[in-house]
Amino acid sequence: MAGIAPQTRRIAVVTSGNSRGSNLRAIHDAFRNGAYPVEIALCIVTKRSAPIVTLCQDKGIPVEFISSKDLSTFETKLRSLLDEYQIDLIALAGFLKKLSISFIRDLTIPILNIHPALLPRYGGEGMYGIKVHEAVFSAREKRSGATVHYVNRDYDSGRVVLQEAIDITDCTSPQDIAAKVLKVEHHIYAKAILKVLKIH
Ligand code: GRF
Repeated sequence: MAGIAPQTRRIAVVTSGNSRGSNLRAIHDAFRNGAYPVEIALCIVTKRSAPIVTLCQDKGIPVEFISSKDLSTFETKLRSLLDEYQIDLIALAGFLKKLSISFIRDLTIPILNIHPALLPRYGGEGMYGIKVHEAVFSAREKRSGATVHYVNRDYDSGRVVLQEAIDITDCTSPQDIAAKVLKVEHHIYAKAILKVLKIH
């Protein structure tokens, strides 16, 4: 007897500013061959000229622009797009604004974020991009890595879904660390999404 095909779970990747979209690409690549019933059904941008827009066009992923000037308006529009596109999970990737407590509380779907360090260390307000890797480099850490976590009211402090560490003793600059950690990010985000959606 034929089994019932599982319903495809629909992800929204939410970005801000000049997003390059490498995590979106990695997530898309992990799911595109149909091995898992998951797809990126929407990408949110706050800048129409961000490189991720072209990437989405190439991949056939719908993109919607929302201005992030006013957070409340941004959240209202985002909520309506999440309904319209029937989204099951939000994956923040380079989204630098802090979502409001009410938005997070009222949403019935998971919101995940990826951070380029081993949280709880090297996270929090102002810790993003190369600043994270500069701090790790200055502290002469031997290990860094990436963390996927649930989003809550504070920056980078929600429950950890997945974390992977790597040796960075061969790195001679923050940029070296960034490049090495980015590979880890690309490896763990799709895995974390599957874990949260309970797809094995
Ligand atoms: C990643 O380094 C991620 O850890 C951080 O923002 C960056 C987004 O990069 N939250 P990309 O646009 O996915 O390449």
